[in-house]
Amino acid sequence: MEFEYALSFAQELDAKDPLKGYRDQFYMPNFHANTIRYFTGNSLGLQPKSTASYIQNELNDWAKWGVEGHFHAEKPWFSYHEQLTEKAAKIVGGRPNEVVITHSLTTNLHLLLVSFYQPVGKRTKILCEAKAFPSDQYALESQVKFHGFDPETHLVEVAPRPGQNLIEESDILAKIEEIGDELALVMIGGVNYYTGQLFDMEKITKAGHAVGAVVGFDLAHAAGNVMLKLHDWEVDFAAWCTYKYLNSSPGGVSGMFVHEKHANRPELPRFAGWWGHDKANRFKMEKGFVPMEGAEGWQLSNAPVLGMAAHLASLDLFDEVGMDALTTKSKLLTGYLEFIIDTISEKHKEKCTFEIITPRNPKQRGAQISMFVHGKARELFDKLTDAGVIADWREPNVIRLAPVPMYNSFEDVYYFGQQLEAAIV
Ligand SMILES: Cc1ncc(COP(=O)(O)O)c(C=O)c1O
Repeated sequence: MEFEYALSFAQELDAKDPLKGYRDQFYMPNFHANTIRYFTGNSLGLQPKSTASYIQNELNDWAKWGVEGHFHAEKPWFSYHEQLTEKAAKIVGGRPNEVVITHSLTTNLHLLLVSFYQPVGKRTKILCEAKAFPSDQYALESQVKFHGFDPETHLVEVAPRPGQNLIEESDILAKIEEIGDELALVMIGGVNYYTGQLFDMEKITKAGHAVGAVVGFDLAHAAGNVMLKLHDWEVDFAAWCTYKYLNSSPGGVSGMFVHEKHANRPELPRFAGWWGHDKANRFKMEKGFVPMEGAEGWQLSNAPVLGMAAHLASLDLFDEVGMDALTTKSKLLTGYLEFIIDTISEKHKEKCTFEIITPRNPKQRGAQISMFVHGKARELFDKLTDAGVIADWREPNVIRLAPVPMYNSFEDVYYFGQQLEAAIV
């Protein structure tokens, strides 16, 4: 499509947008005199207007039933999490027995690593991307130490080539082959939080399996953002948070995927809790952990129902919209943002330029553009914030923007351009 940097053009795209009604189903922050232009749904998604009623229902049932709510609430808390499974599974391309919603993201990563990082003989190394999100780095480093190895030698990072910002996928594949029979695990962020680079998870999984390694992904920036087919891609395990693109409350519950080929492997080492124990016998309160089949066997604790209710509110919206419609709009909206940034960069090149580091190929990114600011840096970002544009700043000079298809409009993107220009001159 030929884009135009004009309000009438943005409004025309909004008028044709099949998802245009969804913006109104979210609270747009309103702490500023200007209309807020919110581009940080990759950090914390907005609150659906329906969330309060989902939570209020549980508060009402808690007031009415007390402990009896576990079995008599309208949505009994004993099995509350089960209502989320199918809807979450659709988002990540998993089968229902491969997905469970539980705990928080880093907790889930650790629980999965305990099972799926199993160094044996010379197969002891982990491959990950350089500059992964710090929590992932710390999780991997501590898992390596937990097994008595040195992260310096056992955590192998693939970095961008000198002078580049993105990781060449071929470098990941080559490194997997090079480490070969010393490679126990590949664990990578499906979408890199900093650059927005989307990796070909199917290819990486195939390459990992070809040398006998296990392959898992952190999908914090991918779930609800890009099309995922975890089952078909034969990914071994994955975890994601639900407070970014999935709009399910600050620090909200997390998701876990365990491929069905591992569904019935009680011999896998795992850190266990009563909620992962055979459901039929859980309340016998007896000794001897027997894991449930599938991803549910990795649960530790009974469901935090208020957080789950917030997630259910958002999942119901995702279920209505579907990932096909969402990713179709996402490509157009992110493309429009890219076009506007390029246009402004060219127009004002004497004063300030923007170097987009997110891949230009729409197949290698989701709803995110990260760009270096050359010439103005932090002062420009502060002006944007003062004007009501909410974006994200990363040192030394990167602005990250997430045009989220569920609630951002083409007009938001146009006005971002206007404020960006105002901040330059
Ligand atoms: C890629 C990635 N991994 C891990 C985390 C940590 O998540 P949590 O604090 O929910 O454990 C985040 C949080 O933003 C993240 O983006």
